[in-house]
Amino acid sequence: MDISIILAAGEGTRMKSNRPKVLHNICGRPILKYVIEASKNAHIDESYVIVGHGGDEVREEFKDSDIVFITQPIGEEYPYGTGYAVMQAIDYIQDDSNVVILYGDTPLIRANTIQNLMEYHKENKYDGTVLTANLEDPTGYGRIVRDEKGHIQEIVEHKDATYEELKINEINSGIYCFNGKLLKYAIGKIDKNNAQGEYYVTDVIRILKEEGYSVGAYTIEEETEIYGVNSRAQLAYCEKIMRKRINKKHMMEGVTLINPENTYIEDGVIIGRDSIIYPGAILAGNTVIGEECIIGENCRIEDSRIGNKVEIYSSTITESSVDDECRIGPYAHLRPNSHLGKNIKIGNFVEVKNSTIGDNSKAGHLAYIGDADVGRDVNIGCGVVFVNYDGQTKFRSIVEDNAFIGSNANLVAPVLVKQWGYVAAGSTITEDVSEGCLSIARARQVNKEGWVEKKGYKRDK
Ligand code: UD1
Ligand code: CA
Repeated sequence: MDISIILAAGEGTRMKSNRPKVLHNICGRPILKYVIEASKNAHIDESYVIVGHGGDEVREEFKDSDIVFITQPIGEEYPYGTGYAVMQAIDYIQDDSNVVILYGDTPLIRANTIQNLMEYHKENKYDGTVLTANLEDPTGYGRIVRDEKGHIQEIVEHKDATYEELKINEINSGIYCFNGKLLKYAIGKIDKNNAQGEYYVTDVIRILKEEGYSVGAYTIEEETEIYGVNSRAQLAYCEKIMRKRINKKHMMEGVTLINPENTYIEDGVIIGRDSIIYPGAILAGNTVIGEECIIGENCRIEDSRIGNKVEIYSSTITESSVDDECRIGPYAHLRPNSHLGKNIKIGNFVEVKNSTIGDNSKAGHLAYIGDADVGRDVNIGCGVVFVNYDGQTKFRSIVEDNAFIGSNANLVAPVLVKQWGYVAAGSTITEDVSEGCLSIARARQVNKEGWVEKKGYKRDK
C-alpha cells in the first residue's frame, strides 16, 4: 500500500492573512487541493493531511473528500518541525507501506513526478529516497550532502550548514518516499539538537544512512514543481505557472487562445474545440463552454454552462446557462439563474436575472429582465424594464411566445403578456395583456399649437 502524508500545519506568517495558507487559491482552487489531487493521480491509496494553524477551516473546506486530517498540536509548550509533523501520522503507517511525504503549500508538484520518485525508490530498493533539485540560488533550502561516491549522505539545513555546505546547489525539495517500517523507526530517533530547536524530518535520511540502510536521491528537471507558497508574491508566481499549464492543456485540446499570457482559465473549466478565447477573459468555477464559441475580450464567465457556437463580448455571466448560437454583449450581464434558449440575442447594457428566455428571442439594448419567464420569438425593445420589486417583495412576470414589448415599456410584476400580445412603446403595464391584443398604457399626446407664441417667448436667438 502507498500512502502520502501532506504537511500543512505551519503558520504561514509571511502570507499576512487571516486564512490558513493552504486555503489560498491559485487558479480558483485552494493550494492544498492541487497537492491532494497530485497524490491521488499518482495512484497513492490514502492521503493524510497534517493540519495545525487554522486546522478547523481546512477540515471544513475538504469535508466532502475522503482525506484523513490529523491535527498537530501547536503552541509554545509543543515541539515544532517537519519531523514532529510526520510523527503525528505514525499510527497510520503500516510496516509494509511506502510513505510519500508532501507539503500542502507546493501546489505545482505533478502526479507524474511523484510516480517517478516512487518508481525510482522501488526499483532501486531504497529504504528512503529524497526528491532533489539543482537551484542557481539555493538560499534557505536544506542542502544535499553527497559522499565521494556521489551517494547521498545527509541533508543539512541552511541554518545548520557550514560555509562549504552552503555552496552546494543541490537542495532538498521536502518530498520523500520512505519504507513505512523504517520511517517509523528513524522518526523515533530524531532530536531537536539543531540551530532551530525543531524536529527535522531530514534527519531520517542521515539516521538510515548511518545505520546501513540504503538511501537515494532522485533529481527533478523542472524545478518549478517544488516551488512553495510562503508569501503573496510566491502565490502570484505559482498562479502564473499553473495558469500557463492550464492554458497549454486547452490549446493542446483544440482551443484557440489569442494571448495565453492574458487569459485566465480556472482549474476544472471545460472548453470545446475550435472555441476562441480573446484576451482578458476570465473563465471561472464550474464552467463548461461548448465548441466553436467566441469568448470575446474581458468576459467573465463563472459557474455557467455555455452551448455551441455562442458569441459573448465584454460581458459577465454568473451561475447561468446559455444554449447554442446565442449572441451576448458587449456589456451584458447575466446574473444567477438565468437560462437562455437557442439563438437568442442579448445586446448591450441588458441585464437578466433569475429568468428564462425561449429560443430566438431578442433584447437588443438597455433592458432589465428580472424574475421573468419569456417565451420564444419575443422581442424586448430598448429600455424595457421588468419591474419586479415593490419595495417589499419580488414578483415574477410571464411573456408568452411571439409577444412584442415596445421600447421603454415597464411590465409591473406580477403581469402576464399572452401570445402575440403587443405592448406599445412607453407603456406601463400593470394588467395582463390578452392574446393578440395591443396594449397602450400611457397618457395620450396633446399638441398645444402656438404655445410658444402665446407665452410671449422671444425667438431672436
Ligand atoms: C524544509 C526542509 C528543507 C527543505 C525545505 C523545502 C526540514 C527540516 N527542512 O525546510 O530541507 O529544503 O523544506 O521547502 O524538513 N510543517 C508542519 N508542521 C511543522 C512544521 C512544518 O506541518 O511543525 C509543514 C509546513 O506547513 C510546510 C512544510 O511542513 O508545509 C515545510 O515546513 P517549512 O517550515 O517551510 O520547512 P523549511 O524550513 O522550509
Ligand atoms: Ca518552506
